[in-house]
Amino acid sequence: MKILHIVGARPNFPKLAPVYRAGVAAGVAQVIVHTGQHYDEVMSDSFFETLGIAKPDENLAVGSASHAVQTARIMERVEPVLEKHRPDWMLVYGDVNSTMAATIVASKLGLRTAHVEAGLRSDDRGMPEEINRLVTDRLADLLLTPSRDADVRLRAEGEPESEIVFVGNVMIDTLYFTLARLGLAPGADGAWAHDGSIVVTLHRPSNVDEPARLAAVMAALRIIAETRAVTFPAHPRTRARMAEFGIEAGRVVMTDPVPYEAMLQLVTKAYAVITDSGGLQEETTALGIPCLTVRPNTERPVTITEGTNRLVPDPADLVNALAAVTRVAGLRRPEGWDGQAGTRIISALQARPA
Ligand code: UD1
Repeated sequence: MKILHIVGARPNFPKLAPVYRAGVAAGVAQVIVHTGQHYDEVMSDSFFETLGIAKPDENLAVGSASHAVQTARIMERVEPVLEKHRPDWMLVYGDVNSTMAATIVASKLGLRTAHVEAGLRSDDRGMPEEINRLVTDRLADLLLTPSRDADVRLRAEGEPESEIVFVGNVMIDTLYFTLARLGLAPGADGAWAHDGSIVVTLHRPSNVDEPARLAAVMAALRIIAETRAVTFPAHPRTRARMAEFGIEAGRVVMTDPVPYEAMLQLVTKAYAVITDSGGLQEETTALGIPCLTVRPNTERPVTITEGTNRLVPDPADLVNALAAVTRVAGLRRPEGWDGQAGTRIISALQARPA
């Protein structure tokens, strides 16, 4: 069996890693195609190095552009690559533009697509990721879900039962793999020792592209930073908007984006995390570390119902929300967040050879 992985943006890489490793262990032929949506060392290359993923076989070097242009470029450049390799399965990950663009092309070439992280919905079509999720799931042939709510959602949207396979969360495979590699572990009661610090990541267009919204978020963070150490590794988009709008960081320590392992070092000693990232909502739930998500909705409801996540739609509420945070000892993990999702994905593909 030959599988071809499509990755392009930062959150794709920790999802690819465990599937790639499981593929190696099973002796499956694998091709990695990097669209080049992200291209900076810390946004891309560092993940391949630290997560033990082979160098991409193909790099489409699409770079940054508007959504339409980026999507079109990926489609144009991925078509000959898919025809050249003709895999038994193309795997796409998450909800970025690379995920959707490659899926459209593979469908028309008659190649089978498996979507890792299928069935997540925010019901917010103002988010580009929601459009990417909907299109990808409608076209993909195998819907590999990270949580049971995703199965329910896909059934409700009319997807046939035979296409839906619950495999669990690959992001958590990578979390456990890396914690072990770094020798990081919680205390005997399952709780991580914290130093009172706060880790922040925010990069969604809805939080950083509007001057008033970004100003409100940063105003709250500046207040929090008066009493706690606040570290904010900022996406290039966030950095650029702060400069453009002339918004001050105060005592908030703004840094460049950090590699995966460095992020984990920061998060495991944090008192709480403030974010709009999907991955961090999941990682904090698996770690048992409180998470405040600065969004009106989440496509990952299990992080609220079974985890440590709390939505804070209005940034003006952040200071109070943080004051209300409690740290509870003992890890509770959603079903399938056990470090074995990658292996289950390879098994699901092997069960459908042609
Ligand atoms: C993308 C994903 C988003 C994900 C995020 C994680 C889509 C629709 N969005 O958003 O879901 O959460 O990645 O990081 O696919 N840039 C750089 N260096 C890079 C890449 C980007 O400086 O390596 C800058 C460029 O100025 C670019 C901007 O970031 O214009 C936005 O990049 P883009 O890939 O369009 O979207 P993200 O905001 O990164």
